[in-house]
Amino acid sequence: MAAPMQRVKIWDPWIRLVHWGLVILLGLSWWSVETGRMELHLLSGYLTLTLLVFRIGWGIWGSETARFSRFLRSPLAALKHLRHVGRREADTELGHNAAGGWMVLVLLGALLVQAVTGLFADDQILTRGPLAGQVSGETSDFATFIHIRNFNVILALVGLHVVAVLLYLAVKGQNLVRPMLTGAKWLPASLAHRSPRLGSPLLALVWLAVVAAGVWSLARLG
Ligand code: HEM
Ligand code: HEM
Repeated sequence: MAAPMQRVKIWDPWIRLVHWGLVILLGLSWWSVETGRMELHLLSGYLTLTLLVFRIGWGIWGSETARFSRFLRSPLAALKHLRHVGRREADTELGHNAAGGWMVLVLLGALLVQAVTGLFADDQILTRGPLAGQVSGETSDFATFIHIRNFNVILALVGLHVVAVLLYLAVKGQNLVRPMLTGAKWLPASLAHRSPRLGSPLLALVWLAVVAAGVWSLARLG
C-alpha cells in the first residue's frame, strides 16, 4: 500500500518571488543589452541586485528552507546524494537537497558578480555603471571584462541547473518545478511534523524596502 501523503509548505512567497524574478530579469538584462536599450539594462540590473541582496539576508534570518546554514551541507553529503541520482524514489526533501544547495550558492554568487561588476562597467560610449567614475580606468576596464565574460558562465550554470531539474523529473520522477511555483510539496505524512518554519512576512517586507532604498541611492550616484 502506498504511504499516505500530506501537503507541506516548503518555499515561502519570497523565495519564489526572487527565483522567478531572477529568471525574468536575466532574460530582460540580456534582451535589453542586445537591442541597445541600456537604460532598461541598468534598471533590470538594479532590480536583480535588489533581489540578490534581499535573498542573501533572507538566507541568514529568513524561512528555514531559505537559510544557507540549513541547506549548505558538506561536499561529502553532496556527493553521497549524487550517488542515488539515478534511483527512482519519492521526494522526501524538506528544502534543497545536499547537492542542490551548492548549485544555489554558485548561481547566486555568479549573479552577484554580474550585478556588482555592472556597477563599475563602462562601455566607453554612452553607458556606465554608477560607480565607474569612482575607480581608476583599469579597474573599470577589468570590471567590464568580467561583466562581459561572466555572462557566459551564468548561461552555462543556468543550463546545468535546468538540465538537473529536468533529470529529476525524467529519472527520479520528482517534479521540483511545481513546488517552486506553488510553494508546496506532497511528502510522506510521516515527515509533516517537520514542516519548515516560515519567516515573518513583516520582516521580509521591511528588509526588501531597506535593500530597495539602498540600491536606489546607489543608482542615483550614476
Ligand atoms: C533562468 C535563470 C534561472 C536562475 C538564475 C535560477 C536560479 C535558481 C536559484 C538561485 C535557486 C535557489 C532558490 C532559493 O533558494 O532561493 C533555484 C532553485 C530552483 N530552480 Fe531555478 N533558476 C533559473 C531557471 C529555472 C528554470 C527555467 C526552472 C524550471 C525549469 C527552474 C527551476 C528551479 C527549481 C525547481 C528550483 C528548486 C530546486 C530544489 O527543489 O532544490 N529554475 N533556481
Ligand atoms: C545581473 C544582471 C546583469 C546581467 C545579466 C548583465 C548582462 C550584461 C551583458 C550580457 C552585457 C553585454 C556585454 C557585451 O558587450 O557583450 C552587459 C553590458 C553592460 N552592462 Fe550589464 N548586466 C547586468 C547588470 C548590470 C548592472 C547592475 C549594471 C550597472 C548598473 C550594468 C551595466 C552594464 C554596462 C555599462 C554594460 C556595457 C559594457 C560594455 O559592453 O562595454 N549591468 N551586461
